[in-house]
Amino acid sequence: MADSGSVREDSRIVIEDDWPGYSLDLFTYPEHYCGDIESVYIPHGIIMDRTERLARNIMDDLGDHDIVVLCVLKGGYKFCADLVEFIKGLSRNSSKSLLMRVDFIRLKSYLNDQSTEDLHILGGEDLSVLSGKAIVDTGKTMKALLEHVETFRPKMVKVAGLLVKRVPNGLGTPPDYVGFEIPNRFVVGYALDYNEYFRDLNHICVISEAAKIKYKV
Ligand code: HPA
Ligand code: MG
Repeated sequence: MADSGSVREDSRIVIEDDWPGYSLDLFTYPEHYCGDIESVYIPHGIIMDRTERLARNIMDDLGDHDIVVLCVLKGGYKFCADLVEFIKGLSRNSSKSLLMRVDFIRLKSYLNDQSTEDLHILGGEDLSVLSGKAIVDTGKTMKALLEHVETFRPKMVKVAGLLVKRVPNGLGTPPDYVGFEIPNRFVVGYALDYNEYFRDLNHICVISEAAKIKYKV
């Protein structure tokens, strides 16, 4: 990966192991998930504010490069869409006009709340510069994805991840842009799913044990 020395080690919000999340009484969420979530772990507004700042960091680092954004589906679609909107907004208000293409790649490695061995990469035939992923835990998926992207010989590759999990034996290389560092627990919402449920939840939340059983496959 180009420029790996430029990672901003201190520029992430660190959520500590003992953070219980906010009480559900403090926010709104879809009624159909009543009983399915335990707490609001990261409210939607904070996700948006943090993403706006990541967009600014990315713009500052870009120089005059045009970019191809590679959105990692499905979990990355909200983060990627919001990040692209913020980058567009900053580009409109700056002297340099940024040409941006958006491409999509689909990855799947989770069943219930467990990582599976097999990783499927579908789509994304283009060269890529910025890859937007919602969550990085073991880093296994990211490593495989980067190897795939490198085969297209891009000039530069940068990875933006909204969440990075503190997992034992995790991450060789962290993403270049990180929104939040979180404990090793399973979270849903803001496009992150549990067996395809909860993508329609705006906040990032902790799911209840009852919901893990209710939506198990
Ligand atoms: N939630 C949803 N999907 C995931 C997670 C998570 O915590 N970790 C890896 N994929
Ligand atoms: Mg998933």
